Parts: sequence; structure tokens; C-alpha cells
Amino acid sequence: MTLQFESVVKADIARLTPLIESRLLTPLSEGEAPKLKDSMVYSLSAGGKRIRPILCLLATESLGEPIELAVSSAVALEYIHTYSLIHDDLPAMDDDDLRRGKPTNHKVFGEGHAILAGDGLLTEAFCILAMDQGLDSDRRVEAIKVLSQAAGWRGMVGGQSLDLEGEVLVEAGKPYDYEHLKLIHRLKTGALLQASLEMGAVVGGATSNIRGILKEAGSALGLAFQIKDDILDATSTSETMGKRVGKDEVKGKITFPKLLGLDGSKNALIKATEQAIMLLGQLPNPNSLVAWARYLAERTK
Ligand code: IPE
Ligand code: IPE
Ligand code: MG
Ligand code: MG
Ligand code: MG
Repeated sequence: MTLQFESVVKADIARLTPLIESRLLTPLSEGEAPKLKDSMVYSLSAGGKRIRPILCLLATESLGEPIELAVSSAVALEYIHTYSLIHDDLPAMDDDDLRRGKPTNHKVFGEGHAILAGDGLLTEAFCILAMDQGLDSDRRVEAIKVLSQAAGWRGMVGGQSLDLEGEVLVEAGKPYDYEHLKLIHRLKTGALLQASLEMGAVVGGATSNIRGILKEAGSALGLAFQIKDDILDATSTSETMGKRVGKDEVKGKITFPKLLGLDGSKNALIKATEQAIMLLGQLPNPNSLVAWARYLAERTK
């Protein structure tokens, strides 16, 4: 069983990563601010697992539709995600000096340019979608709607706000409950993972029923992803992760291990993953996405 999901994921990475990498920097080929371009290219090229673009391509493929329809969404998602990491690492937020195995953007280009690189990537993401002539205008507008809601203050940015406010709660010794913890995780990380699957559904022309299944599965997968990220922060090493670990405790973050302990967190991870797998099993071609749900729960980085 284990080998089966690993070989599916390995084959998907070999097949899809070259496609994503070949399109990732194209939107940055023209422009007149060289240092800003260098800072955006630096973070985009620093590595990264490309989970969101891969899930987006696989969602379209799970409908039996060509993945080419989802390439602009995949690239746009990686732009938003990379921007969120650059800003997340800033001194005013998590204050980190290592990301994707390299010095963080602000350590290399300065805080001003790290802020601008994030701004540039965020805005460019929507330009990429708006300009995709391969999609009819209804699908384009719908994809833009899904991504803007997930990335903005109703989604990721809102979650980052709750995450910062959480530090204040913890510092003041104020209580927080499981529902609040799940809300932070669903927003700061879950929203963009959910959008990855939902955008794949939208550009692939899914029925509203199938779109709903992918959206709900994405929500469960997104929660699972951040639970695993919390577990790895408490148990892995900086060398393996390519980013600092043990920082959640130092910064006083509200995390799963803090509230539920490691065993409780692992149980919550299994529960969210099984929920995602149950939903994904209802798709026309579920195999890859189900394998990815298992892989993401077992990943070591
Ligand atoms: C890290 O995301 C930030 C979280 C939302 C937990 P990833 O683990 O997908 O980071 P990269 O893209 O591989 O660097
Ligand atoms: C990241 O959460 C959420 C984002 C929107 C970037 P974390 O702060 O836990 O991500 P890492 O651990 O720094 O990658
Ligand atoms: Mg953070
Ligand atoms: Mg962080
Ligand atoms: Mg983390």
C-alpha cells in the first residue's frame, strides 16, 4: 500500500514538475525593475515542493480534462504561495532567515524589496489568469474569484492576521480552543490548498457537484497540511526542512502540538486526511489525488 502511493506520487512529480518549472518564470521576462525581478526570481527558483500547482493540475486531470487548461492557475497559485512565504518570513511576522534551503528574501534583498517582491508576485498572479487566452472568459473570471477570495482577507491573509493575534493571546496567557486553532489553520494554509483543487475544477469545467467535492476535500487536505507542518516544526530538523524548526514554540504560536500534544496532533492529521480521501474517492479519476493525500500526511519535509 505504502509503495503504491509513493510510486504514484513519484511519477506525478516526474511528469508535472517539468511542466510547472518551464512556465514559472515566463511571466517575469519583461519589466523594468531589475532588482525587484531578481528578488521575485530568487524566491520562485529557490526550490519548493510545488504542492499547490501539482494539486491544481491533478484536480483538472481527475475530471478527465487536459492539464493544459490548469497551467495558468497552477503558476498563479505558486506565485501567491511564494509571496505568502516571503512576507511570512519578514521580521514583522515570523522573522525567519532560512527558506527553501536558502537565506530568506529579505536577508538577501532587504526588507523593502522583500515586501515589494511579495506585492509583485501577488499582483502578477491575477495578471497571469486574466491573460490566459486558452480559457473562456467565464472560467477565467471564476478562477480569479476563487483565488482572490482564498488569498485575501477572507482566506490566507485573514489567517495570517489570526496567527499574529494568536501570539498576543499566548503571550497574555489567554485561553484559546480547538475551534479557534482549526480556524487559523484553515485560513492561513487551508484556503490556498482548497483553492488549488477548486481552481482545477473550475478551469476543467466540473459540474457543481464535483466542484463541491473537490472544494471540501481541499479544505480537509489544507487542514491536514498545516497540522503536519506544525508536527514537523516540533520534530524535524532545519537541514531536512530547508527552514528553521522549533520556531512555533519560540514565537508562541497557536499550534496542534501545543494544544493536543504530538499523539493528539497525529490523530487529528489522520482524521483530516481520511476525510479528504473519502471525498476524493467520489471523483471520476481519484487515484493520483488519493495518493497525494496519503503522501502529504506522511511527508518528511
Ligand atoms: C509552507 O508550505 C508554508 C505552509 C503553508 C505550511 P510548503 O511546505 O508547501 O512550502 P514549499 O513551497 O515546499 O517551500
Ligand atoms: C505559513 O504558516 C502560512 C502562510 C500563509 C505562509 P507557517 O508560518 O507555519 O509556515 P512556515 O512554517 O514558516 O513555512
Ligand atoms: Mg507564519
Ligand atoms: Mg512561518
Ligand atoms: Mg510552520
